Amino acid sequence: MSVKKLRIAVIGTGLIGSLHAEIYNENNLAELVAVCDINKKAVKQVAKKNNCNYYFNYEEMLKNEALDAVSIATPESIRLKPCIMAAKKGLKILLEKPLGKKFNEIKNLVTRLKKIKAYVAVNFILHADPRFRKMKEEIKNNKIGNIVTYFARRRGNRLGIEYYAPWTDLLSSTLIHDIQMILELSKSNPERVFAEAVIRECKKYNSHDAVVATLKFRDGSVASFETSWVLPKNQPEPLDPAFNVIGDQGSIIIEGSSLGMNILTNKQFIKPDLAHWPTIDSSVDGALKKNLDMFVNNALNNKPPIVDLHSAQLAEKVVHSMKESIRLKKPIKL
Ligand SMILES: NC(=O)c1ccc[n+]([C@@H]2O[C@H](COP(=O)([O-])OP(=O)(O)OC[C@H]3O[C@@H](n4cnc5c(N)ncnc54)[C@H](O)[C@@H]3O)[C@@H](O)[C@H]2O)c1
Repeated sequence: MSVKKLRIAVIGTGLIGSLHAEIYNENNLAELVAVCDINKKAVKQVAKKNNCNYYFNYEEMLKNEALDAVSIATPESIRLKPCIMAAKKGLKILLEKPLGKKFNEIKNLVTRLKKIKAYVAVNFILHADPRFRKMKEEIKNNKIGNIVTYFARRRGNRLGIEYYAPWTDLLSSTLIHDIQMILELSKSNPERVFAEAVIRECKKYNSHDAVVATLKFRDGSVASFETSWVLPKNQPEPLDPAFNVIGDQGSIIIEGSSLGMNILTNKQFIKPDLAHWPTIDSSVDGALKKNLDMFVNNALNNKPPIVDLHSAQLAEKVVHSMKESIRLKKPIKL
């Protein structure tokens, strides 16, 4: 008996979309039909590596190919049109975060997708990291009591300033992962945010070099955040994250993305990222792979997405309120 496969295409085959393509190509429950990018050289390479069709125009691809789903990994300024077009065709969508640039654009996108009743999973990959999955389970089972404080740190290196700052920003691209996770862990609604930023090198991009922020919940609990992308490129761990939850009956501490592994050679000392999208034995692994594999499985079986549009929009609301707090130099009510 042949097993039904999810026929899928990827729109945007840059840094992350090319990994989406590889992951679907390796998933026995998926058939990578085509990839699309306006960068002709890059998309041809990705298609060749993964043995699938390629397009330079997503409208043409969506018209020509018989698909069940699409992964959208374009920059967030180019989301609305491909999303709506795919949703109107009844395709299930794996959508990269963030949902857009400005909050009113994000609200418009979410409203339109909800009206079409589109199936959309937003790619918040921490939910597929086994440490965060275990943490969610422990908290759900009330193992650490009532939550008192959360702390999230996400310090990137200068590649962030070079590669991402010109077209996205620190809060929308980076800290949003931790904000979304904390909002999901909290049983209480967020009440207000306050954020302060360091604005030096990113001034020309209308963005932030670093942000320190707090988020207060209605039950009295408080989250604090620190994020930046200014560390030297040769720091041992490419990303320096931490996530702590302190309850009145215990605590859960997640440190780093190297999962405790250090590699020392004559040339270098590194703590390789094993959590997010490491390549091991020539295949993409880690939380990105797990999250996309879960998307394929859930889409095939009509199960709800791990992170849906409603949850992603709430995270965006907090992100944009933090930006407003920085701009107005005062706390913002949610
Ligand atoms: N979930 C995660 O952990 C995660 C990780 C990295 C990036 N992202 C998100 O993914 C998105 C893309 O990031 P990236 O680092 O891959 O950026 P990137 O610049 O490397 O890739 C974006 C690609 O989209 C292509 N593109 C632009 N307009 C297009 C169009 N009209 N049609 C088809 N392709 C088009 C570009 O040519 C480029 O190849 C960003 O929103 C980013 O925040 C998410």
